[in-house]
Amino acid sequence: MAKVISGKDLAKKIKEDIAAKVPELTAKYGRAPHLAVILVGEDPASQSYVKSKGKDAEQVGYRSTTIRLPEDTPESKLLEIIDELNKDEQTDGILVQLPVPAHIDEDRIIEAIAKEKDVDGFHPANVAALWQKRDCVYPCTPKGVIRMLDEAGVEIAGKRAVVIGRSNIVGLPMAKMLLDRNATVTIAHSRTANLAEVTREADILVAAVGRLRMVKADLVKPGAVVIDVGVNRDPETGKLAGDVDYQEVEPIASVITPVPGGVGPMTRACLMENTLECYLNSQDKK
Ligand code: GUN
Repeated sequence: MAKVISGKDLAKKIKEDIAAKVPELTAKYGRAPHLAVILVGEDPASQSYVKSKGKDAEQVGYRSTTIRLPEDTPESKLLEIIDELNKDEQTDGILVQLPVPAHIDEDRIIEAIAKEKDVDGFHPANVAALWQKRDCVYPCTPKGVIRMLDEAGVEIAGKRAVVIGRSNIVGLPMAKMLLDRNATVTIAHSRTANLAEVTREADILVAAVGRLRMVKADLVKPGAVVIDVGVNRDPETGKLAGDVDYQEVEPIASVITPVPGGVGPMTRACLMENTLECYLNSQDKK
């Protein structure tokens, strides 16, 4: 039986800690931190993520603005809005929910966000800083995973970690952050030959491919720590489920994260932390 790490409980604690600080900061600097979230289009999953981000921001006492734009919004219009937010001294964090519609160049959008307000940590300057071990905004999901591992008392240094997935948002920064904690890291992916052979080496296995229940018991070394970053909709039940087959894997893992209630809430808690960081950095520069 694995120890189950509740991201929901840890996220609640992190948000309570932030909420406790906000009134004093608001009095000191004359305004609360402000997070602006932009959503283009009507993808149901994105709508739900954006709603949760706004709710979390309000819960911790931030000012929260959600800008909802129609699916056919021209790229130039989106760039204009980002530019205004970049210049607005009352906005600390800017997030454009991904993916954006196909007619919009995602890279151009990410680059347009001022790196000082890039609460996602996706700007190329932030990515470079992460890979060069300089000061950076850490991307929210891998940051949340590291926090969960620490909370569960998992020793990372010296361990073998395997990350399945190589996305810019999760897989790659996750691997780098585990490496910086002195794990020995392998990045596997959906086309890795003999995937089970690779993943069974892992003391810490992070699944971030977006394939419903692809991590079966035969991919997991008994006693491994298993982190499930996947969020998939089960077509049979309509419910959310992870990349890990929880029922099969939970009995052999030492630590596991559930879906929902695992990494997801931690991503948002870390977004709140990043927003606070950007706010404090901007106030300190004044
Ligand atoms: N889409 C899926 N995850 C994320 C995220 O962490 N940030 C943004 N902006 N879009 C996403």
